[in-house]
Amino acid sequence: MIDDPPRIPVQIDRLPKDLQKMCRDLYTTNEQREQKPDNYLQPDTIYCGDARQLLPQIEPNSIALSVWSPPYFVGKEYEEHLSFDEWQNLLSTVIRLHFPILKPGGFLAINIADILVFKDQTMPRIQAEAVNRKRSPVTREDVLRAIEQYPGYNRYQLAKLLGCSEQTIDRRLHGNNIRGGKYEVQTRVKIVGGMVEDWALQAGFYTYDRRIWVKDAAWENSRWASLSYRSVDEFEYIYIFWKPGITKFDRRRLSPEEWKRWGSRGVWYIPSVRSNDDHEAKFPVELPSRIIRLLTDPGDIVLDCFVGSGTTAVAAIREGRRYIGIEILEKYVQLANNRIDREKEKGCQRILLECQDDYGFE
Ligand SMILES: C[S@@+](CC[C@H](N)C(=O)[O-])C[C@H]1O[C@@H](n2cnc3c(N)ncnc32)[C@H](O)[C@@H]1O
Repeated sequence: MIDDPPRIPVQIDRLPKDLQKMCRDLYTTNEQREQKPDNYLQPDTIYCGDARQLLPQIEPNSIALSVWSPPYFVGKEYEEHLSFDEWQNLLSTVIRLHFPILKPGGFLAINIADILVFKDQTMPRIQAEAVNRKRSPVTREDVLRAIEQYPGYNRYQLAKLLGCSEQTIDRRLHGNNIRGGKYEVQTRVKIVGGMVEDWALQAGFYTYDRRIWVKDAAWENSRWASLSYRSVDEFEYIYIFWKPGITKFDRRRLSPEEWKRWGSRGVWYIPSVRSNDDHEAKFPVELPSRIIRLLTDPGDIVLDCFVGSGTTAVAAIREGRRYIGIEILEKYVQLANNRIDREKEKGCQRILLECQDDYGFE
């Protein structure tokens, strides 16, 4: 068990030395107290493992910003083994483990979406009368006459006899169409923001901001788009939580034009990653880049404990920040490291070109 962290607003580095030690102890969990400093996870490294095991190995009060997108409980390869309870447990534990490692005054930014097809055993079947689909000329009277003539026929045989679908037989007899199959569990929308906020508040954070990321509309993934009043999947949330402490405000982090275009805006329009061929749920580099530029300074450490293909690390490198990445699947750790290597190479080439321009080096 990890102690509940206290909710004391404090910027430890600014206190007298003796008080610094006392406050560090206050903001440090039992597990972290047992860690030796040289065993802490090192910046500019991607670690393979479960975030719940590795987060306690990060130096207390060292992370300026943690930005991540967790499993969304939508049945992806890396989460299909999780029950809903286990998924909630994963997220609430990871959020709780962040409190001691974030700097006082630092931020936790979570990119997440509502669950649009959440199975609910208690939900009655949605009975939809699809008026614009009554294309078959078969009438209720035709069906009743056929039943009278062939009393033993089931709806499949009746459909064959009348040259229509068995759904048409159902519709003509019962006047409705049961959505999603008669025996399938029904699905509803599950809103996740309230749960995430509760877990963060319980951990000691305060909700600081929320933004909407508008991505490309996923028409092909929305099975209901053709016969329903539901909207397609085209936006996600960014919830930002604050750890009490002194937070530096520096409006020079963005240009006046950037503040106007996105820094002060609640809705961000950023196209999704088109080629999700190496990781099934990458977010675009622009997303963590914006959050990093808003909430950190060059040299700060940015954490992503669900780092996947390494997007947050790439963004951190581009913005001159350090990073720590954690990822459970070895194949994604390799992918992240390859992307990071390419990013660093590009950085070196950029510097060389700048030197050539500035000093005329060949
Ligand atoms: C939504 S994806 C993040 C994708 C990432 N933002 C990117 O751009 O590539 C979630 C990632 O968390 C990883 N993951 C799932 N459970 C984990 C756990 N317990 N600890 C660490 N990583 C985990 C998955 O393998 C997956 O790569």
